[in-house]
Amino acid sequence: MSSDRKVILETKGLTKHYGGVEALNDADFKMYADEHIAIVGDNGAGKSTFVRNITGVEQRTSGDVVFDGESVNFRAPIEAREHGIETVYQNLALADFLDVPANIFLGREEVRFKLGPLSWLNKKAMRKRAEELLEETGIKIPDLTQNVAGMSGGQRQCVAISRAAGWGSKLIIMDEPTAALGIQETTRVENIIRGLKARGVPVIIISHNLRQVFNLVDRIVVFRQGRIAGVLDAKQASGNDVVAMITGVDQGVHDNASYI
Ligand SMILES: Nc1ncnc2c1ncn2[C@@H]1O[C@H](COP(=O)(O)OP(=O)(O)O)[C@@H](O)[C@H]1O
Ligand SMILES: [Mg+2]
Repeated sequence: MSSDRKVILETKGLTKHYGGVEALNDADFKMYADEHIAIVGDNGAGKSTFVRNITGVEQRTSGDVVFDGESVNFRAPIEAREHGIETVYQNLALADFLDVPANIFLGREEVRFKLGPLSWLNKKAMRKRAEELLEETGIKIPDLTQNVAGMSGGQRQCVAISRAAGWGSKLIIMDEPTAALGIQETTRVENIIRGLKARGVPVIIISHNLRQVFNLVDRIVVFRQGRIAGVLDAKQASGNDVVAMITGVDQGVHDNASYI
């Protein structure tokens, strides 16, 4: 690896304990700006804890986080967003009774304020920007004025991802973004992720789907029992290698298909 590759995110000794529960221990992680990384691991391995303690959802017990060359300690998710980290969750975190443009602008109060709250101009500008964002990410939603409650899981997740992708993000983190989706919807989300790769936007995706992982990312970081068990090159490693690292059991015993 040449040393002139830009590092976008690094954690050193990142640790989170909930009382006696050692959810995350001593995680050393380094990600370059030109790569996509998958985080895999069994339930309870510490994957979501890792993300929450980078993005300011929770406060770490100890350790350091360096983002885009700056030592950071976000006190709230909005601070991470302001620094260019967007997070997409499995649970399709959209406001059901707002339409697509309103959801894309949700939490962007500064933008709303600049445009003038509740004005006609404001609505028009939001809608135009929403259309642009969806276009950029290749997402087709027939009627932007419908409440997102009436949309399919896949459409909702596409809106969530275009929201994340649309704010000049420096890093997008997705925690099991397709876990609640059907096959076709999953494919659409995967295409968006490929588009982000083509546009040079770094992505971390937590996924249980090894096929997806191998199709999408450059490197695979394996968590086991609150620790980073290892990092694999997606082009070199096999499914068995990943499963062996996830379980801590030697390969050959497990059929990786059973994990997919
Ligand atoms: N708020 C919490 N309070 C106590 N324990 C927690 C909390 N959140 C997660 N844990 C525990 O931390 C460990 C890691 O959880 P998590 O990061 O959610 O795992 P994963 O995302 O890999 O499935 C698990 O043992 C889980 O029960
Ligand atoms: Mg999780």
